[in-house]
Amino acid sequence: MTPAPLDRVLLIGFMGSGKTSVGHRIAARLGWRFADFDDAIEAEAGSSVAEIFASRGEPYFRALEERVARRLLAERQVVLASGGGWAAAAGRLEGVPAGTATFWLQVSAPESLRRGSEAAGTRPLLARPDALEEAIRLIARRAPYYKEAMWAVDTERSSVEDVSAGILEILAREYPEIRAE
Ligand code: S3P
Repeated sequence: MTPAPLDRVLLIGFMGSGKTSVGHRIAARLGWRFADFDDAIEAEAGSSVAEIFASRGEPYFRALEERVARRLLAERQVVLASGGGWAAAAGRLEGVPAGTATFWLQVSAPESLRRGSEAAGTRPLLARPDALEEAIRLIARRAPYYKEAMWAVDTERSSVEDVSAGILEILAREYPEIRAE
């Protein structure tokens, strides 16, 4: 079966896996727009993700996230970085429109926390004394969902440049119609 032409790239994976940095880079190379679910949520809510979690709670955040995701997934020629929890619910990846290339950026819990320490305070789910145990627990619970992505890319020991180059290589191989500058 011929795959649908490529309209968008969707990056999923745990916090600190590099979705935003890699997404920016791929979008620049494809000449496409980049959009980050968390940024769009913050713009819509007029407050930060941490503030939304603190004042309205996680269920409210998840409902907003799902609404924003639907809107962004309807766009074309866009590279999307989802929030780490978005893909981890039944039906999320099955529901993405045809023409979406999905990539799971893999990262271990310790590496996620190491990277996240630069962004302390912005990740409410890991703002706790037992953050490492929580990250291990969340990754284990989410892996079956993340696995549904079309490709998995290990980011553990790779730079943003290398991960992006690997993804662009896959895209060029699978979708010869696209052009990366
Ligand atoms: C979350 C990940 C965050 C953000 C929120 C919840 C999660 O996004 O959406 O803090 O549940 O893993 P990043 O993965 O972009 O940090």
